[in-house]
Amino acid sequence: MSGQTGEAGFPMLVRRVPIHDRQDRKPYDVLAAELEAALAREETYLREKKELSERQAMLAQEFEHRLVNGMQVIASLLSLQSRSAKTPEATDQLMIAARRVASLARVHRRLHLLDHQERVEFKVYLQNLCEDLSALLSQDGSGYAIVVEGADVEIPTTRAIPLGFIVNELVTNAAKYAEGHVTVRIEAASQADRRLSVIDDGPGLPAGFNPEHGNGLGMKIVLSLVQQIGGELRILPGDNGRGTRFTVNF
Ligand SMILES: Nc1ncnc2c1ncn2[C@@H]1O[C@H](COP(=O)(O)OP(=O)(O)OP(=O)(O)O)[C@@H](O)[C@H]1O
Ligand SMILES: [Mg+2]
Repeated sequence: MSGQTGEAGFPMLVRRVPIHDRQDRKPYDVLAAELEAALAREETYLREKKELSERQAMLAQEFEHRLVNGMQVIASLLSLQSRSAKTPEATDQLMIAARRVASLARVHRRLHLLDHQERVEFKVYLQNLCEDLSALLSQDGSGYAIVVEGADVEIPTTRAIPLGFIVNELVTNAAKYAEGHVTVRIEAASQADRRLSVIDDGPGLPAGFNPEHGNGLGMKIVLSLVQQIGGELRILPGDNGRGTRFTVNF
């Protein structure tokens, strides 16, 4: 094989085909045999790739199932333990911990409930998810204020699941670092222009914040999911110039 420049100036690979090979086959037969072998190799690669991705999906489901079951067991144990606590404060704290673990299990279940569905009413889905997150994020189990607002759009599940995980990370961060009101907003000007924002009214991001270079895992998960859905992440000030707004187009 040698590199040459084609008519349009692009480099192209040229293969010299012997007029007769060692088995004395004609050039056409040699090429046909090589093409057949290449196609067979390609088919094998594709089959292996499909098998690997099916196996990966199955392992992820199995892991998720075990994780949720494990969390439910922990929640029951904490609840049991709270009944034999020595002081009323200890009873309360153990019950709060039990509720948080149970809510975390619900959030995980909700995010994977859609695994076998094709399309989803996105606003309803986010409202349910945020209800679970609200119970999880409040200190005393009374519920953290999260408002879900905007257009109700039906979207493919393959998009809703990563967007759900993104909301999970961004709302958790807003509750952790902004400690104020959280708004999850869907804007749908057209099918080609849909945006999902998580907005808070907290102190804003630390100076020099770069989502790619932090120590935390949350922003890295968000960036990789945004890339997975072919979207774009924008970081702006929140409503009325206060707090932070993370926007993803989808
Ligand atoms: N809504 C927000 N308001 C203010 N600061 C924020 C907000 N969201 C993120 N941050 C800042 O960005 C940093 C990176 O967030 P990231 O989610 O990647 O990590 P983390 O929350 O610290 O850890 P992890 O997500 O792994 O539990 C946070 O440590 C925090 O300083
Ligand atoms: Mg985080």
